[in-house]
Amino acid sequence: MIDTNKSQEGQPPLPMQGIPQPTRDEVLKLPRVHISSHPVMAHKMTALRDNNTTPPDFYRLVKEIGALLAYEATENLALDTSTIETPLQATTGYRLAGGIGVTPILRAGLGLAEGFREVISDAQVWHLGLRRDERTLRALEYYNRLPHQIDLQVCYAVDPMLATGGSAIDALNILKRRNIPRLCYVGIIAAPYGLLKLTQAHPDVDIYIAALDESLNDYGYIVPGLGDAGDRQFGTF
Ligand code: PRP
Ligand code: URA
Repeated sequence: MIDTNKSQEGQPPLPMQGIPQPTRDEVLKLPRVHISSHPVMAHKMTALRDNNTTPPDFYRLVKEIGALLAYEATENLALDTSTIETPLQATTGYRLAGGIGVTPILRAGLGLAEGFREVISDAQVWHLGLRRDERTLRALEYYNRLPHQIDLQVCYAVDPMLATGGSAIDALNILKRRNIPRLCYVGIIAAPYGLLKLTQAHPDVDIYIAALDESLNDYGYIVPGLGDAGDRQFGTF
């Protein structure tokens, strides 16, 4: 169990200490924010948050939640139509127009991206490595495999945790330089603070999340949250 709110006497202030945060109610009505209300999602989220869930089960749950979120976040994708033949007669068929990109923000976004690919198997995966410096809470880029040839109708930046919003904002800034027609952010748990910052920085981006939690603690961890999503997926405690 992480000790999330212990302040050290004589030490510099903790990164979120004394920083005002919006409430859940203040961000619930933000435009372009979609929060899942599906009972299956609530069921899986409970298992995911549980401190007794082991890394293999945690990873499986992240993938399953990723698939559910992919289904919700692709609700308004554009389609091309064509005529196809069934064994009985001709009929109109539909295919997703243009390519679909998924950008897992490493490393915790890997499980979510796997879940996405179970719904859209031919999605391109564009890896982007961002690591949050736990002292300053700033995101640092350490890996970038975004392709130069772009032919996508949409790219989904996926990362389980939207805490201060720094990693998500930076990831979308990087993706925006690739001139992709539409960008979405998909996450599992958001804090009101990060959600507000993200919508302020990228008001044109749709955001799909499974849950909106109460706040960030002084260390910048989401509470109640689920702890460290990367460590819990990969067993690196
Ligand atoms: C976590 C998480 C997000 C980020 C969220 O990753 O997966 O990327 O922190 O925090 P923020 O909203 O304050 O930027 P972390 O940097 O711990 O790296 P990891 O995925 O390798 O564990
Ligand atoms: N990153 C995590 O993995 N968990 C949090 O609560 C915040 C950032």
